[in-house]
Amino acid sequence: MTKILCIGAGYVGGPTMAMIAKNNLDVEVTVVDINQKRIDAWNSDDLPIYEPGLDEVVNEARGRNLFFSTDVEKGIADADIIFVSVNTPTKTFGQGAGYAADLQYWEKCARQILAVSTSDKIVVEKSTLPVRTADAMERILESGKTGVRFDVLSNPEFLAEGTAIVDLENPDRVLIGGHPTPEGQKAVQALVEVYAAWVKRENIITTNLWSSELSKLTANAFLAQRVSSINSISALCEATEADVGEVAYAIGKDSRIGSKFLKASVGFGGSCFKKDILNLVYLCKTYGLDEVAEYWHQVVKMNDYQERRFVARILKEMFNTIAGKRIALFGFAFKADTGDTRESPAILIARELLAENAEVVITDPQALEYAKTDLADVIDRVTFEPDPYKAAEGAHAVALLTEWKEYQTLDYQKIFDSMPQPSFLFDGRNHLDHQALHDIGFNVYSIGKAALKHI
Ligand SMILES: NC(=O)c1ccc[n+]([C@@H]2O[C@H](COP(=O)([O-])OP(=O)(O)OC[C@H]3O[C@@H](n4cnc5c(N)ncnc54)[C@H](O)[C@@H]3O)[C@@H](O)[C@H]2O)c1
Repeated sequence: MTKILCIGAGYVGGPTMAMIAKNNLDVEVTVVDINQKRIDAWNSDDLPIYEPGLDEVVNEARGRNLFFSTDVEKGIADADIIFVSVNTPTKTFGQGAGYAADLQYWEKCARQILAVSTSDKIVVEKSTLPVRTADAMERILESGKTGVRFDVLSNPEFLAEGTAIVDLENPDRVLIGGHPTPEGQKAVQALVEVYAAWVKRENIITTNLWSSELSKLTANAFLAQRVSSINSISALCEATEADVGEVAYAIGKDSRIGSKFLKASVGFGGSCFKKDILNLVYLCKTYGLDEVAEYWHQVVKMNDYQERRFVARILKEMFNTIAGKRIALFGFAFKADTGDTRESPAILIARELLAENAEVVITDPQALEYAKTDLADVIDRVTFEPDPYKAAEGAHAVALLTEWKEYQTLDYQKIFDSMPQPSFLFDGRNHLDHQALHDIGFNVYSIGKAALKHI
């Protein structure tokens, strides 16, 4: 029986391995992590991440051919294929701080694999890494001269949080990069077989290692670029009374452009877009490609501008003072259907509102615990309230920051009646029925559309 190990039981490692185990009954899959709490949660009924459909997939495979453990060494020793899916955050220290990927967790894994292995392994980069990282991994793995053979592959993950299970079940493509040597291609084929258990072969793309590594960074850069592009136009719409929704629809009808990822918003968040673009920027600079670096850097700068512009608008529309005013933030997760708050625009917005001495109340159906951690240093100045009605009570303004479906069906008349007048609603996701809200009496401000005001 083939044994697969995944090092790193996070948002990627957990769901991807559950899907592999679900579809490969002849494969035993173990997911290991150094975080005992996380592993305990994976072994419980209360999984450590919220993802629609995940519980069912885990329940089906766990204990049968899917296992979660903290015994990293045993896992490595037993495995034929090892996925490395540890975190690769932006470096916060030394050279490249603020841009480069911090590869310390990933390199520790490579060294541990070398130290523990007594049989041949295929080592798969699942984490998002700078292009040519496989080169470094191979050099570490070959430094031991243990007689054990390691074949390194790149297999970046393209799932999106919130739709991870659907994305994994039916991926647009699976990408596998390997060396063109006979051994490299044999390793590629072994991994192709794992995915071919449920993914059509024409959707499994094989490339060289460097193309695979670079494709992941490029895909995220292109996706984020579309968001920043439409967000830049939203600012112009607000100045000209054009409607960004209408503009996006009109341009998206052009099949060369396409309609996806053209929703203007308060900005993109998530653990990947910013980190991966900054990583790309750093790589370009390293290779002396300053113009290319600056081109992609602008995508992140535009996102930052969009978040700050949102706060500036709140301040301006609320008579240039929000000191002492209660402002309810509806949503803190970086998008709907996830509890993840990493790089959520809500973090910066909450902090900017606090800097203006506003009284900030946060509500979110899934992300309140992470919100408390994100704002730990100012926690005594923030109220966390699971009930959106209570959050809005007495608030001068509601600012919608996450497009949770339940926010569309709230009783906004009841909310309006509990707020002082004039009351303001800032829709950072263009998620609500603005005309209906205006009819109730709200002064409504959305992204890239003319305001609907009573004052
Ligand atoms: N989150 C996403 O939507 C997404 C999508 C595609 C790709 N990625 C990439 O996948 C990688 C993982 O992302 P994530 O969101 O799952 O991260 P995560 O932080 O949720 O999980 C990483 C896990 O690795 C564990 N870990 C770190 N070092 C370890 C070690 N030496 N031994 C065992 N466990 C160790 C950590 O404890 C953590 O639980 C990143 O490179 C990320 O860029 C993420």
